[in-house]
Amino acid sequence: MAFVAALCLSSVLVFSISSGADALSLNYYEKTCPDVDSIVTNAVNNAMMKDKTVPAALLRMHFHDCFIRGCDASVLLNSKGNNKAEKDGPPNISLHAFYVIDNAKKEVEASCPGVVSCADILALAARDAVVFSGGPTWDVPKGRKDGRKSRASETTQLPSPTFNITQLQQSFSQRGLSLDDLVALSGGHTLGFSHCSSFQSRIRNFNATHDIDPSMHPSFASSLRSICPKSNRAKNAGTTMDPSSTTFDNTYFKSILQKTGLFSSDQSLLSTPKTKDLVTKFASSKANFNKAFVSSMIKMSSITGGQEVRKDCRVVN
Ligand code: HEM
Ligand SMILES: *[C@@H]1O[C@H](CO)[C@@H](O)[C@H](O)[C@H]1NC(C)=O
Ligand SMILES: *[C@@H]1O[C@H](CO)[C@@H](O)[C@H](O)[C@H]1NC(C)=O
Ligand SMILES: *[C@@H]1O[C@H](CO)[C@@H](O)[C@H](O)[C@H]1NC(C)=O
Repeated sequence: MAFVAALCLSSVLVFSISSGADALSLNYYEKTCPDVDSIVTNAVNNAMMKDKTVPAALLRMHFHDCFIRGCDASVLLNSKGNNKAEKDGPPNISLHAFYVIDNAKKEVEASCPGVVSCADILALAARDAVVFSGGPTWDVPKGRKDGRKSRASETTQLPSPTFNITQLQQSFSQRGLSLDDLVALSGGHTLGFSHCSSFQSRIRNFNATHDIDPSMHPSFASSLRSICPKSNRAKNAGTTMDPSSTTFDNTYFKSILQKTGLFSSDQSLLSTPKTKDLVTKFASSKANFNKAFVSSMIKMSSITGGQEVRKDCRVVN
C-alpha cells in the first residue's frame, strides 16, 4: 500500500514538472537558435572585458527581474507615457548596463530573428557573469517568455536590505524559494557595489539605545562611517559588497561570520540555527557554496511569467 502510494506520488511529481505550461528545457532552441548560448556569451564577455562592473549588474538585474512578475524581462522595459517602469522605481540605484542585454539581443536577432526571449537572454547573461567572475557554470534551462507590464510601484515587492530573517524567508517562500535558497542566493553579494543609502541605518542612529547596529563589527562600522558622509549629499558614495567584489567566491560568508556583512539582511542570516549552519558551511567550503548556488539559481530563474518574445528588450511588441 505504502509502495503504491509512493509510486503514485512520484509519477504525479514527474507529470507536473514535465507538463507545466511554461516548462523550461535545456534544448528549447535546439532547432530554432542552436547557437544562442554562445552568441550571448560572446556579447556579454565583450562588455565585461571593458567594464568590470558589468557582471554584478547583470546578476542583480536577473534577480530583480525574477522577483517581480517572474523572470519575464519586466526589468528591461522602459517607462512609456505615464507608466513608470521598474527600472525607474526607487531600488533602481544599482541597476545599470542594460546596453549589454541590448547588444546580446541584437546579435541573437541577427542569427535567429523573433525567436529568443529577452528573459532567456538575461538568464544566460547572469550565468555568464558568474562564470566570468570565477564562479561555477551550469546549463541554463530556456523557454521563458517576455512580459508586457513593468510597474515602478511593484519594486516595493523586492526584499529590502533592512529585512530580518523572518521577512526574508517570507519574501523567498512567496516565490517558492526555501531558506536554503535564501542563504545560497544571498551569496550573489560576493559581487558588486552598494551605495551608502542601503546600509546607512546601521551605522548612525541605529536605535534609541545603540548608535551602531550591535550585529556589526565596530571597526567595520567606523570604516563605513568614514566612507559615508552624514548628509546625503554624496549620493554615489558606497563600498564593495565584499572585499573581493569582482571575484565570485565564498568571502561573503566569511565576512558574515566576522560581523562584517554589509546589510541587515546579510547579517541576519546568522539569526537562526539553520541559516547560521549554512553560512558556516559555505564559508568553509567554496565547493559547497558553488553547488548550492547553481541549484538555487536554476530554481530562481525558473519562476516564469511572460507571454511573448519581444523584438526590442526595452519595449513590448
Ligand atoms: C536576500 C535578499 C536581497 C536583498 C535585501 C538585496 C539587496 C541589495 C541591495 C540593497 C543592493 C545594493 C544596491 C545599492 O545600494 O546600489 C544589492 C546589490 C546587489 N545584489 Fe542583492 N539583494 C538580495 C538578494 C540578491 C540576490 C538573490 C542576488 C543574486 C543572486 C543579488 C545580487 C546582487 C548583486 C550582484 C548586487 C551588486 C549590484 C552591482 O554592483 O551593480 N542580491 N542587493
Ligand atoms: C532610476 O530612477 C530615477 C528616478 O525615477 C531615474 O531618473 C533614473 O534614470 C533611473 N536609473 C536607471 C538606471 O534607470
Ligand atoms: C522581523 O521584522 C518584523 C517586522 O518589523 C517583526 O514583526 C518581527 O518580529 C521581526 N522578527 C524577528 C525575528 O526579529
Ligand atoms: C536596539 O537594537 C538592539 C539590537 O537589535 C536591541 O537589543 C535593543 O533592544 C534595541 N533598542 C531599542 C530601544 O529598541
